[in-house]
Amino acid sequence: MISLHSLINQSKQEYSAAKLWMVSGSVWLAVGTVFGLLGAIHLAAPDYFANVPWLQFGRVRPLHVNTVFFGFVIAMLIGVCLYILPRVLNTRLYSESMGVIAGVIFNAAVLIGDIALLAGQTQAREYAEYIFPVDVLVVITFALLTYNIVMTVLRRQEKILYVSAWYIVGAMLWTCVVYVVGNVMWHPRTGAETGIGDAINAWYYGHDVLGLLMTPLAVAIAYYMVPRITRAPLYSQLLGIIGFWSLLAFYAHIGGHHLLQAPIPTWLKSVSVIDSFAMMIPVATVLINQWYTSRGRFDVFMANPAAKLMFVGTIWYAIVCIQGPLQSLASVQRVTHFNNWVIGHAHIAVLGFTGFIALGGMYYVLPYVTRRKIYREEYVNLQYWLLLLGLLGFFVELTIAGLIQGQGWLEGETVYQILPSLKPYMVLRVMSGLMIVTGSFIGLYNIIMTLLKGEPTTT
Ligand code: HEM
Ligand code: HEM
Repeated sequence: MISLHSLINQSKQEYSAAKLWMVSGSVWLAVGTVFGLLGAIHLAAPDYFANVPWLQFGRVRPLHVNTVFFGFVIAMLIGVCLYILPRVLNTRLYSESMGVIAGVIFNAAVLIGDIALLAGQTQAREYAEYIFPVDVLVVITFALLTYNIVMTVLRRQEKILYVSAWYIVGAMLWTCVVYVVGNVMWHPRTGAETGIGDAINAWYYGHDVLGLLMTPLAVAIAYYMVPRITRAPLYSQLLGIIGFWSLLAFYAHIGGHHLLQAPIPTWLKSVSVIDSFAMMIPVATVLINQWYTSRGRFDVFMANPAAKLMFVGTIWYAIVCIQGPLQSLASVQRVTHFNNWVIGHAHIAVLGFTGFIALGGMYYVLPYVTRRKIYREEYVNLQYWLLLLGLLGFFVELTIAGLIQGQGWLEGETVYQILPSLKPYMVLRVMSGLMIVTGSFIGLYNIIMTLLKGEPTTT
């Protein structure tokens, strides 16, 4: 039996926090995608789980979304960043134990939140469904992480703050505010205000948890990995800082583009659409920086599965952020809003961009953190292909399904009449989803085997 004493000692070892966050992220990836698959089966065959209350779509959907959001993407991004930050600051993490405790609390939060959702306990606002006690645990987690990260920055040996450090610190500070305000934590019972004001707040939160937490952490990882893998200096540190400040300037208030059909003030709609296009600036700074740093060396990405995952993540980022501004136009939303088109965008964004970068970062960092080689590199490659092909399938199927819905509604068809024409796409989505689920379990197996049987590294 492992004693408490040895657990405490292990939690003080260098990179133990990064390891905990990354490994737990891969467990939640497997769990979360299974629930995604159950939701997809429901949409293809609605009567399949008809008599099982805890498998109803209304419970399975938020469980899938929150598990992949918080349990997988956010946890894995944080894990990789807990390795990167000390490296770019040339300093040890201020407190490994604090990072481990934060990780344990966060995992408990996801577990309790998921069980509550299965039992039908929800606050029913998108990405904020977890009940109040879970919100408290999440806030404690981010308070601990922020303190730990800020203290590490203050005690750094390297005086120049590299771009990755800017993005990591920014993500932590912003999230402490965004999470509390977005979850309306001063109303513990409902987690909501009332009326249109609450809708505006809900989308301020919904988009900022994507744009001010996941995006900057993913960008921080790309900024660290690309120069290291290509062995080339970063193309421009200045561009990186411009990208950081313009992300904050343009992203924080574009949530209104989710509410173009709702009676929110017209000026707020205009601001959100204009700034959706202005988002091209921070996005371009990231992509120009990564791709110019890599120019002439693209072959190195294809030779290393971790690097490949990360690099393809930047390509998905470009696609997401070309699609994003276009679909924030009211004229485009007449066809794309409230249908599967948006679900397609959501998957290429959260899995393709942030998820791929999280996975690439994790596989790149894991050997340094565990001092063991990845158990089977070919399994990483297999996971990459399963995820990529599954996701491409999702993108095509859901985009076509969305266009069928949107065009049909414009022509006056009812929601009900269009459902039969969606069936083939829903069945295909189950098949693409199966590929992603399989890839997630292969990844989990590979990671567990790396921890147990990975060959020791010499560095
Ligand atoms: C230039 C940047 C982006 C713009 C302008 C943009 C725009 C939009 C718009 C207008 C919608 C709502 C569409 C509708 O309801 O009709 C949307 C939805 C969404 N976006 Fe983006 N997007 C951008 C980047 C991203 C990124 C980087 C992520 C993830 C990291 C992301 C994740 C999502 C998700 C998950 C949804 C679905 C929200 C829901 O549940 O309705 N987007 N985006
Ligand atoms: C790690 C991988 C995944 C991530 C990050 C992810 C993320 C998301 C997100 C952000 C949403 C909310 C979309 C929105 O409201 O606009 C969503 C919904 C959904 N996802 Fe996933 N997902 C993943 C994998 C899967 C898999 C493998 C399946 C299985 C087929 C799946 C099936 C679904 C379904 C059925 C919905 C609800 C769609 C609806 O309401 O019409 N997802 N997912």
